[in-house]
Amino acid sequence: IPVDPFDLVIFGGTGDLARRKILPGLFRRFRSGQMPEGAHVIGAARSDMDDAAYRDMVREAIGEHGGSEAKDSKALEHFLEHVRYVAVDARGNTGWDALKEVLREDEGLVRAFYFSVGPGLFAELAEGLRRHGLADAETRIVVEKPFGHDLESARALNEELARHFHETQIYRIDHYLGKETVQNLMAVRFGNMLFEPLWNSQYVDHIQITVAETVGVGGRGSYYDKSGAMRDMVQNHLMQLLCLIAMEPPARFEPDAVRDEKLKVIRALDPVDPDSIVRGQYTSDGTVNSYREDAENPLSKTESFIALKTYISNWRWANTPFYLRTGKRLSARASEIAVVFKDAPHSIFGIDAGRHSNVLSIRLQPNEGMTLGVTIKEPGPGGMRLVDVPLDMTFADALGPEAEEVPDAYERLIMDVIRGNQTLFMRGDEVEAAWAWTDPLIEGWQRRGDSPKPYDAGSSGPDDAAFLINRDGRRWRGVR
Ligand code: BG6
Repeated sequence: IPVDPFDLVIFGGTGDLARRKILPGLFRRFRSGQMPEGAHVIGAARSDMDDAAYRDMVREAIGEHGGSEAKDSKALEHFLEHVRYVAVDARGNTGWDALKEVLREDEGLVRAFYFSVGPGLFAELAEGLRRHGLADAETRIVVEKPFGHDLESARALNEELARHFHETQIYRIDHYLGKETVQNLMAVRFGNMLFEPLWNSQYVDHIQITVAETVGVGGRGSYYDKSGAMRDMVQNHLMQLLCLIAMEPPARFEPDAVRDEKLKVIRALDPVDPDSIVRGQYTSDGTVNSYREDAENPLSKTESFIALKTYISNWRWANTPFYLRTGKRLSARASEIAVVFKDAPHSIFGIDAGRHSNVLSIRLQPNEGMTLGVTIKEPGPGGMRLVDVPLDMTFADALGPEAEEVPDAYERLIMDVIRGNQTLFMRGDEVEAAWAWTDPLIEGWQRRGDSPKPYDAGSSGPDDAAFLINRDGRRWRGVR
């Protein structure tokens, strides 16, 4: 279904995110018919160039990052007719009038500005849009992460944006919320009777969230070294996954109903004991750089890996551990949420039959999908021996070829901006609450002067991360 016609201005239109995600995503939505003919995409950045030069850059970016669909050159050329460029100096006064001229005033046309720039420019852009008369009460702004560096800076940023835009106009992106599986998690939880009655501390032994990456931080070292895995991944992506797993059923699938429930989860999170946090930093395995080389900081104490155990102090989850883990340069790219159910209270088959617990595995990547491990009898004459088999809910298998064309997270979220649907975007108070939980943990290790534990590139992280969960009689799934 096509969305309404729109003018989408991408500040940072020549930047990395625009090239890798935003522009290829828009092209795919155009090709699928969702981005309508009446839509314009306007790149804005400091460099001086004309429409033709920008289109060349966009063509190249889509060729490189647009997947097989980019081979459809007819569609690509058609898409490019909808693309324009204006040079704007966000910090100065130049370019704003030219931008205003390019924007249309048509009735029913959605106007949105994507701030695909460093957070240092958010406030200035918001102010610039107002000062130059480019935004009104209907205009939407899309803000990328990192949203602040700590609670104080996030609060200041929220206040700045609130000076010029109402909360309903602000779309704070966490692209994990746009991932297909993440949304499917809500469908599975709240569209079935099967899981919800068991979804609590009485039946769930623990929950694991792993986001493992094989990439290092090369190329982004200067940003990453000030951030680390806690700020870069846990405060936002892992926290959002945790919220969706743990939240109470919202009354409706509507922005504030969902976000109210997520906020309650964050506010109910326990502080984390220092001995329940393991930070790591990758070292070279001889084939790739070490973290310190990538970050060009030989003394860096920034973590490229973190594992922690936390609890949610509420009726549903009291005493159920949530183990979170994420890192760069690990042995595999694998992201999974695992809900590990308790063992059956008594095995009628005797100890030799083996004991198994059900695990609901929600895979974000690769091989998106869900499996539920169920225990059955091992086939054959060997007596009553139990084995686990997966009940597979992988979309591509169950839903046929169209399920393979799941839009990338960014594509979906940009279309949601145009539709005016904030359900999958973070509200200001959520982001602040997430920082309020994160800040004391970071301050704690800084105060103690803790150094991250070295781990080999291509491994599963520091040994202490395994110990963190093994000492509770449990173990990590997947990347081990
Ligand atoms: C970004 C982080 O937000 O998410 C990166 O800044 C990380 O460090 C990336 O690599 C992971 O996203 P995805 O979609 O590849 O899992």
